[in-house]
Amino acid sequence: MKPHIYFNSNIDSPDEWKAALSQHFPDMKYSVGEVCEDPESVDVALVWKLPNRGLSDFKNLKAVLSLGAGINQLDPEKLPRNVPLARLVDDSLTQTMIEYAKAATFRYHRKFHLFERQSREAQWTFLPATLARDTVVGVLGLGELGGAIAKSLAEEGFDVAGWSRTPKHVDAIATYSGKDGLSDMLACTDIVINVLPLTDDTRSILNLEFFVQCKRGACIINMGRGHHLVDADLLAAIDAGQIQAATLDVATVEPLPPAHPFWGHPAILVTPHVAGISTPETAAITVAQNIRRALNGEELAQQVDISRGY
Ligand code: NAP
Ligand code: GLV
Repeated sequence: MKPHIYFNSNIDSPDEWKAALSQHFPDMKYSVGEVCEDPESVDVALVWKLPNRGLSDFKNLKAVLSLGAGINQLDPEKLPRNVPLARLVDDSLTQTMIEYAKAATFRYHRKFHLFERQSREAQWTFLPATLARDTVVGVLGLGELGGAIAKSLAEEGFDVAGWSRTPKHVDAIATYSGKDGLSDMLACTDIVINVLPLTDDTRSILNLEFFVQCKRGACIINMGRGHHLVDADLLAAIDAGQIQAATLDVATVEPLPPAHPFWGHPAILVTPHVAGISTPETAAITVAQNIRRALNGEELAQQVDISRGY
């Protein structure tokens, strides 16, 4: 197979991706950047963002493959209709998301966020520990990433609950769905981890109404998207003592602007969208499978259902 692959990203290395993809397609044609010289011969667009002028010149495109698990960064107005879109699934992305979720969860569970503050203030104060089985972790989203995170936290001994759009059965996880399911889950959850996709239904879901339903003193870990969170509502919920602390990997504006009140806030830890890192070497395996499917006219793996938004 000699696919013509078009690559566009402001955060991924085109050279590393070229090296990884050429292991699978030694004779491929590879075009990079805003201007593509022969758009009509492009078979597959591999993109984090779409080029400014969209893909309308790519008349024979067979698939758009996202370089992210999320697809909300792709402007829907510029996505060609009738060309299938797939999101990224990659072992290294899943493993790094699991690591981040575990690190942030253990930090709250073992009260490191409080000891960090005490340490800065030269304060030697004993705070009792609890067992993992007595800490309830609620995961919003039980898909590829949320499901793997929930499972790995359960393996660490936490009491894990998970919430999805459709009802699910997952071994060792208490599962919930729907609006009532969310209230029931939040009422008993100590640490909430958000790994939802950003859709019309989930935008601004982490708002005051949500925080009021949380167990008092719950901690929030947002690994989804910045637009899941209403920033002012989180600050108000922390001021009211309803929410104890938050770890935020994503922001409505990235990089988070220097004057944003999250910076330096004693109860908030900001990380610069680093929770999930995919390496071209591993990710190219699933991407290459999808390129073959596209060239063979087969349905893509991890194909996005545009009507539901993920
Ligand atoms: P996925 O496999 O598509 O799973 C999405 C999950 O969310 C599914 O369980 C789905 O429910 C649930 N869901 C969707 N809409 C819902 C709603 N309205 N109410 C309740 N549950 C809903 O996605 P994924 O691969 O796990 O990725 C999830 C997200 O993680 C991405 O979209 C991205 O935003 C984020 N992400 C962040 C980073 C980072 O570095 N911070 C890295 C990668 C991904 P069903 O099971 O019922 O369909
Ligand atoms: C990163 O945020 C991704 O969606 O993969």
